[in-house]
Amino acid sequence: MASSAPIGVFDSGLGGLSVVRQIREDLPNEHVLYFGDSAHAPYGVKTPDEVRELSFGIVDNFVRQGAKAIVIACNTATSAAVNELRDTYDVPIIGMEPALKVAVDRGQGQRQNIIVAATELTLRERKFEQLMQRFEADHTIHRLPCPDLVEIVEHGQLDDTALVDATLRRYLHDYDLDTIDAIVLGCTHFVFYRDAFQRIVPEHTAIIDGNAGTAHHLRVVLESLGALAPEDQQGGVSVTNSDTSAQMANLAHKLLAR
Ligand code: DGL
Repeated sequence: MASSAPIGVFDSGLGGLSVVRQIREDLPNEHVLYFGDSAHAPYGVKTPDEVRELSFGIVDNFVRQGAKAIVIACNTATSAAVNELRDTYDVPIIGMEPALKVAVDRGQGQRQNIIVAATELTLRERKFEQLMQRFEADHTIHRLPCPDLVEIVEHGQLDDTALVDATLRRYLHDYDLDTIDAIVLGCTHFVFYRDAFQRIVPEHTAIIDGNAGTAHHLRVVLESLGALAPEDQQGGVSVTNSDTSAQMANLAHKLLAR
């Protein structure tokens, strides 16, 4: 595969654009083909079979477009489909999972009290169960599904500070935030709420996401295959969406520039 070939990145909708921003920053020579499946969002309340079928359709398209690597910029699609996709396609496939290990490591051996905010599907799938098994004996880990945070992004309501703050406060209502060491943003849509979370939680509570780790992983994989884009290549992003409305295109470009 030519190193000048594009990288396919997809999500159930607009959340994966937060990952694209990171890739653009860290790997500026790469060309990214982004596909948001907003017409079928949210994935988080679907069955694993449904998400798998949608993911296969998207990856198939990327492969036909000659992608040299694929990033599943969606924790939900990763938990439902990454193994089957890797078994089916030769192209390297980078998935995402809630960055729980980063939150644990931050405690340097001390017991941590951690909230993992993600979709219902991510939190009940086997992949997350395995992650829990690694850490739950030594740490307190709370699973927090936040479906409305996906809807607010998809409906272009992120700038409605009153709605955003009220929604976050509702989700966090049952926790004594003073005791929480970290909140893991285990859904790429939630990364757009970093500042809003920070407004609400105490200063000592870390807000952690997996985007930098994913971009780094992508670099390592491409490097190991000798497939990093040439340094004189002008990188860029082409954004497409299964919701072909002009509003969706505007929203996607606003989020990318945010
Ligand atoms: N952005 C997706 C994730 O990282 C899921 C959002 C959804 O469609 O429910 O899990």
